[in-house]
Formats: sequence, structure tokens, C-alpha cells
Amino acid sequence: MKGVVLAGGLGTRLHPLTKVINKHLLPVYDKPMIFYPIETLINAGIEDILIVTGGNHSGDFLRLIGNGRQFGLKHVNYTYQEGEGGIADALGLARHFCGDDKMVVILGDNLIENNIAQAVRDYDSQSEGGKVLLKKVHDPQRFGVAEVEGERVVRIVEKPKEPKSDLAVVGIYFYDPRVFEFIDRLEPSDRGELEITDVNNMYLQRGQLTHSMLEGWWTDAGTFDSLLRANNMVAESGANKL
Ligand code: G1P
Repeated sequence: MKGVVLAGGLGTRLHPLTKVINKHLLPVYDKPMIFYPIETLINAGIEDILIVTGGNHSGDFLRLIGNGRQFGLKHVNYTYQEGEGGIADALGLARHFCGDDKMVVILGDNLIENNIAQAVRDYDSQSEGGKVLLKKVHDPQRFGVAEVEGERVVRIVEKPKEPKSDLAVVGIYFYDPRVFEFIDRLEPSDRGELEITDVNNMYLQRGQLTHSMLEGWWTDAGTFDSLLRANNMVAESGANKL
């Protein structure tokens, strides 16, 4: 299984912090933000990793992560997203890297407490389709939100004003190579981006999207409040000692 870390975008919600530096290079407690999603993949046994960067100072990712030796990797792959086309646009750049393999995709500003190894194993035994992880949150309006009927997810809505549940879609996604066909069919959303939520809904419409609940804490770090929260959570949990 391949791993893809999405670390592009312009991070405008964090201006002026991100006017000069790429969001994913900002510190979260004692490490640059991007270290956490890379470690999440490695801790789940994924070692063939592509980093999709973009925006400001993208060359600094090379200086920071280098050949991956500090993470125990034999090799790291990089590519560059032009502009701010959204998460699905960034993932489209992973097509050649992933080839016929399934993949775990993680957003570069998503931090979790626990290991996703079990979810990776579950997805490995899923013959086709995609898989998302859900987490109960107190502010679902900020996320992709799963509408559920019983145990079934029927629809995912991106940043709904009136969320139908408190189940946010975590920024860790499991896809088969069909994802690239779906990305090709996407139209930009109101915020001018290719939305990963539209991709997930395409899988859902085909009855090919499974889900499980994420245990332990989870946070993104793309706003001032969530960046502060990420710092506090890492500091308090001792996850930085991993
Ligand atoms: C993105 C996704 C959203 C998901 C969130 C997780 O939001 O669009 O569905 O719940 O990441 O962090 P964004 O950070 O682009 O606003």
C-alpha cells in the first residue's frame, strides 16, 4: 500500500503566519507539523511515501525531510502542486506514484493520538472501493460531515451550516486506483477547489465506501485555534516522545 501526504495549498486561514512559510512547516510543539502525518503512516507500516507540496518555500521540504533517513525510510518521493486547487487536485498528482496500488492519503495538517494500523489492515482486506475514518466533534461545521442512517453513511456534506450529525470525516482516506477516474470527473466547488468530499460521495453512490470510528484524539491545525489545540494536545499527551 502506498502513502500520500498532502502538504500543498496556501494556508490562507493562517495568514500572516503562512505568508512566507508553508503551513506544514510550522511548529507543532517540538516538531514541524508535517512530521506528524509522516509518522502516522510509518507507524502503520506504510513506508513508500509521496509528499505533495506546493505554495511557499516548497524547497524547504527537501531540506527538512531529505532522503527520509531520520524517519527510518529508505527513500522519499516528492511532487509539487501548482496553485490552490484543493485536496483532490493535490491527490491527482499521485496517479503515477500509486499506479495499480491502493493508497492511504493523509492531510499534512492532521494529527492523531493513536495508530491507524488496524484501519490499514481492514482496508487491505477490502477488495475495492474507499474507506474513511469518522470522529465525533463539537464543531462539525468546520469539516466534511457524515450523514448516517443507522450504521450506514448515506452522504457526506462539506462544511454544512446545519450539520445532520456530529461525525466529522477525518483527513485520512483509503482509496483504490479508481480514485483517479473520480478526480478526473470533478468540478470545482464554490471555494474554487476540487473537493475530497465529492470523491468520497462518488464512492458512496456506488456503495463502495466503508467507514470506521477513529479512537483517541484527532485535530487538524489549519486555523489559529486548531493549531493551538494541536500544540497543546501533543504537549499534553507526550506523543512528541514517540
Ligand atoms: C478538509 C476536508 C474536510 C475534512 C478536513 C479534515 O477540510 O475538506 O472534509 O473534514 O479537511 O481536516 P479543509 O481543511 O480543507 O477545510
